Amino acid sequence: MTWLVTGASRGLGRQLALQLAERGFEVHACARDASSLAEVAAHPSGRIRALALDLGDAAALTPALHAALAGMERLDGVINNAGIGSYKPFADHAQAELLAILQVNLGAVMQICHAVLPRMRAQRAGQIVNIGSDLARRPLANMAAYTASKHGLAGFSHSLLREVKDAGIKVSLINPGIIDTGFGGGTEGSRDPAASLHPATLARLILDAVLQPGSVVVDELTVHPAGQDF
Ligand SMILES: NC(=O)c1ccc[n+]([C@@H]2O[C@H](COP(=O)([O-])OP(=O)(O)OC[C@H]3O[C@@H](n4cnc5c(N)ncnc54)[C@H](OP(=O)(O)O)[C@@H]3O)[C@@H](O)[C@H]2O)c1
Repeated sequence: MTWLVTGASRGLGRQLALQLAERGFEVHACARDASSLAEVAAHPSGRIRALALDLGDAAALTPALHAALAGMERLDGVINNAGIGSYKPFADHAQAELLAILQVNLGAVMQICHAVLPRMRAQRAGQIVNIGSDLARRPLANMAAYTASKHGLAGFSHSLLREVKDAGIKVSLINPGIIDTGFGGGTEGSRDPAASLHPATLARLILDAVLQPGSVVVDELTVHPAGQDF
C-alpha cells in the first residue's frame, strides 16, 4: 500500500510519514525543503521517497502532480497535512500572504484530490485524510484567513466524502488543537506538554483512527490537549 503525505519535512507530517513507513506502507513524502525531506527519506525501512512539491504555486502544482502520479505504481491514500498561518491581525497580513494561506491550506488540497481521484475511482478504493484544525469549527481572532481556510477545508471534506463514498473512497477530516511544532514560526518541542499535542503521539492517534478496515470511515475527529483553552 502506498500513501502520499504533504508537509512531511517537519512537524506532524514528518511523524505521519515516518509512522506510515514503520507500519509497512510505502510513502511519498512531499514538501519544499529538500534537505529535511532527505532526512525523512533516510528512514531505515527504505520505504520513504522524497517528492519536492511547492503547494503554493498553483500553476506549477497540477503538472507536477500528474508527473509524480505517472511514476507511482499505486496510490492508496493521501494525507493533506501541509498548512501555513500566522497569528496577527487580518489587516497586518499582506494580500500575497492571505492568498498563500488559502492556496496551501485549501486550493492545493483540492488540486491534489482532483489529481488523485480518477485513479482512486478506477481502483474503487482510496483514502483521503485532510488535516484541518479545531479552528475549522470555531473562530479565533487574529487568525481570520487561516480560520477561513480550515472552515473551507471542513466543508470540502464533508461534501467530497458524500460524493465519493459509494465509489469506495473514504475522506476524513482531522481537527487538532495546539500541536507542539514549529508552525507559524515557533520552535518544535518548546510548548507546555499539558497544553499542546506531541506530534508523534498525535500522528499515532490519527493513523490508528483512520486506518479502519472495510467500509468504516472516520468522517471527522477533533483532538485537544486538556490544558488548551477551547
Ligand atoms: N501546530 C498547530 O498548533 C496546529 C494546530 C491545528 C492544526 N494544525 C495543522 O496541522 C498541519 C501540520 O502543521 P504543523 O504544526 O506540523 O506545521 P509545521 O511544523 O509548520 O509544518 C508544516 C509543513 O507544511 C509544509 N509546507 C508549508 N508550506 C508549503 C508549501 N508551499 N508547499 C509544500 N509544503 C509546504 C512544510 O514544509 P516545507 O516548508 O519544507 O515546504 C512543513 O513540512 C497543518 O495543516 C496545520 O494547519 C497545526
